[in-house]
Amino acid sequence: MADSQRTILILDFGSQYTQLIARRVREANVYSEIVDTMIPAAEIARRNVAGIILSGGPASVHDAEAPGCDPAIFDLGLPILGICYGLQWLTQHFGGRVQRSGSREYGQATLTLNGENPLFANVPPTSKVWMSHADEVVAAAPGFTAIASSQSVPFAAVWNEPRRIWGVQFHPEVVHTDYGKQVIHNFARVVCDCAGDWTAAHFVEIATADIRRQVGSDHVILGLSGGVDSSVAAALIHRAIGDQLHCVYVDNGVMRFNESKTLAEVFGKHLHMDIRMVDAADGFLSRLAGVTEPEKKRKIIGGYFVEVFREAARSVPNARFLGQGTTYPDVIESSGIGKHADNIKSHHNVGGLPAQLGFDHLIEPLRMLFKDEVRAIGEELGLPKEMVWRQPFPGPGLAVRILGEVTRERVEVLQKADHIVIEEMKAADWYYRVWQSFAVLLPVKTVGVMGDCRTYENAVALRVVQSSDGMTADWVDLPHELLARISTRIINEVRGINRVVYDITSKPPGTIEWE
Ligand code: XMP
Repeated sequence: MADSQRTILILDFGSQYTQLIARRVREANVYSEIVDTMIPAAEIARRNVAGIILSGGPASVHDAEAPGCDPAIFDLGLPILGICYGLQWLTQHFGGRVQRSGSREYGQATLTLNGENPLFANVPPTSKVWMSHADEVVAAAPGFTAIASSQSVPFAAVWNEPRRIWGVQFHPEVVHTDYGKQVIHNFARVVCDCAGDWTAAHFVEIATADIRRQVGSDHVILGLSGGVDSSVAAALIHRAIGDQLHCVYVDNGVMRFNESKTLAEVFGKHLHMDIRMVDAADGFLSRLAGVTEPEKKRKIIGGYFVEVFREAARSVPNARFLGQGTTYPDVIESSGIGKHADNIKSHHNVGGLPAQLGFDHLIEPLRMLFKDEVRAIGEELGLPKEMVWRQPFPGPGLAVRILGEVTRERVEVLQKADHIVIEEMKAADWYYRVWQSFAVLLPVKTVGVMGDCRTYENAVALRVVQSSDGMTADWVDLPHELLARISTRIINEVRGINRVVYDITSKPPGTIEWE
């Protein structure tokens, strides 16, 4: 992001809510970035920083290895807000007392304000807040006074007026804190005096200028998968450099129903982009023949994709740059800031393979954006709603939704069933309200009866889940009429299926995809 953008920095002490803090600040139309706690004050001084937030974290200030930050940040004259561990750390640093409380306080509490304070503008005298802590402040540091309390914590919020430092024990970033958004808004917009100019239109303006400067008269290749991230990245890069962008779409034979046709229409006809459609279905399907093991399928598809893409890229000889739809959560995860998930499945992303694809110059215009921001940019750029609000689709496509062997016939059966699910979910106004809704083709045949005749055909499972980031998910209790309609249509319209079952497993213990 251009350095001119006024930024609130979030020093990440490892809280599970750090990304939420960043999102809330951005919802106040202020740009925010998550950084390592040990960022030197001098580096902060060099940037256009408006304020600093110290996040919560799992450590105790009494731990031998308790994480801290460069104390010189307090001399920068910037407003600072410590949240939970952030409050405890700054209390200890300035000479107050933090005690290990006997039991964790976890859940909702009532916050009572001690009077007016800029951090609490438009927050009522009592309100519900979310607490999640073991340690607590028992004596504020010299120069700090309590500005709010709860039933169990006298120092639920403190401030040091001349130094412009605030600390709160509760979590304003979570939805369970009734006025949390207001508190973050107050800090970002009032205390830090940010203009609130972080909007989709403003982002498009800065990002396109950045892309033009970076690319110059060179050319960019981008692997378009049809997913939200690569589609928005393509539209944004195209807005910046027009014909210097060349999109490559690889049909791997396991895409959704009519996918290639739709993409050619949206990006080629409608948006006038150079989109090179590579039909590699035969190659993928022949490599998948006889393979039933999920990880093997994923590896085959990921590996062959690289081959096909490299070959297609050769048709644009003067392209030096690879465009990618990398987003902020990917960046946070791979930078080591934040937590790492266990490798349960080897993920394949069209946008995640720069080195293997043979490019060392990357254009990643979405790398500082969260998913909801990516969607807002997509809308700003005029992409159709169906594209921008599409549900996630795995890189290995329907191959991980066809249990057992992947054959052309089985792909066609699943495409038809899946298409019915999408149509009916949209018609009932449920498609955009859930994280994902799809069909899975099972490798079992069951006996049925249709029109007085015995049938012996395949079963499909419906998988409909709600999630905020795909890391955890709940199965959705869809209206029974909708389930019934989907089931009837699939059985009537899709040859080869005579039974539909509904998956009622959450994640964990299940994963969202079946393979
Ligand atoms: P699981 O099945 O691990 O899926 O619970 C979590 C989310 O990730 C999607 N998914 C993928 N996305 N490449 C992707 O880009 C992949 O290889 C891949 N595998 C799973 C899945 O659809 C769900 O939203």
